[in-house]
Amino acid sequence: MDSLDLVSPYLFSYKGRCFPVQELMNPKDLDALQHVDVRPSDIYMITYPKSGSAWMQQILVKIVDAAHPDMEEEADNRARVPFLEGNTLDDFRRERPDPRLYATHLPPDMLPTGLKAKGVKVVYVMRNPKDVLVSLYHFSHSWKMLETPKSFEAFFQDFMDGKVYMGLWFDHVRAYQNEKDKMDVHYVKYEDMLKDLRGEVVKVCDFLGKDLTDEAIDHVVEMSTFKNMKTNPKANYKDLVEKQRYSSPTMRKGVAGDWKNFFTVAQNEYFDRVFEEKMSDLPLSFTWEIN
Ligand code: A3P
Repeated sequence: MDSLDLVSPYLFSYKGRCFPVQELMNPKDLDALQHVDVRPSDIYMITYPKSGSAWMQQILVKIVDAAHPDMEEEADNRARVPFLEGNTLDDFRRERPDPRLYATHLPPDMLPTGLKAKGVKVVYVMRNPKDVLVSLYHFSHSWKMLETPKSFEAFFQDFMDGKVYMGLWFDHVRAYQNEKDKMDVHYVKYEDMLKDLRGEVVKVCDFLGKDLTDEAIDHVVEMSTFKNMKTNPKANYKDLVEKQRYSSPTMRKGVAGDWKNFFTVAQNEYFDRVFEEKMSDLPLSFTWEIN
């Protein structure tokens, strides 16, 4: 294998993003993912890490179960909505009936090329980056593939410099905003799901063209609350704790505004300045408050 462009002993840089140094996440395997076979009926869930991926995996699984009751499976969500990265072309459940669900944190230029060509539906979930930072800080203590932060201050700076898993949050969100007219993408905000989960589930169903009864929608919502997912081993990635790949549950707090418990006033002002510099030209409304 060619030598990796290491950012730290745990992360390497490739195409401007950072990936954990681990088997199947080297440049060759990441490039190979561009050749993943794509079906027009595939559904992709895309996020920057810690933005609510497991949450949307559960919502999509439950919507598909309701719309295609014959397809209901015993497998957990990691198998039913497999992540592209960290897998090879043939070991992440290609042979499944339509619609196949996939998840990824990859930026648009590293996605399977067939995705745009075949008009695949993409659900992109984003979250207040300050809460993403705090969630990723905790996850970096948990996931064995990431370096345990020396301090919150040090991690804060790494996040702002893009020296964290998947690189700069700002680049990821911007890149997917720029794909608006090139992909069939539906944007969802984590905070909007906290405010009105049912309303957001209905929007996802409309986007996917899944006509669910009111009772079926209620069931999707009920199964996707933090409380119910936390105790559902199919949805909460508990097996990774059992296999000691995570040292703590990924379902941590599930709230908006936890950053206020971690950021100093100076860090917050600095973050706001960088956010303004990097994102203010985007037409998106970045309001994250939920009250
Ligand atoms: P916190 O660490 O802030 O609690 P991802 O799945 O992308 O890794 O994101 C993980 C974050 O989503 C965690 O945030 C987790 O608690 C939160 N999360 C997962 N399921 C949720 C749900 N049903 N409701 C609210 N938050 C949820």
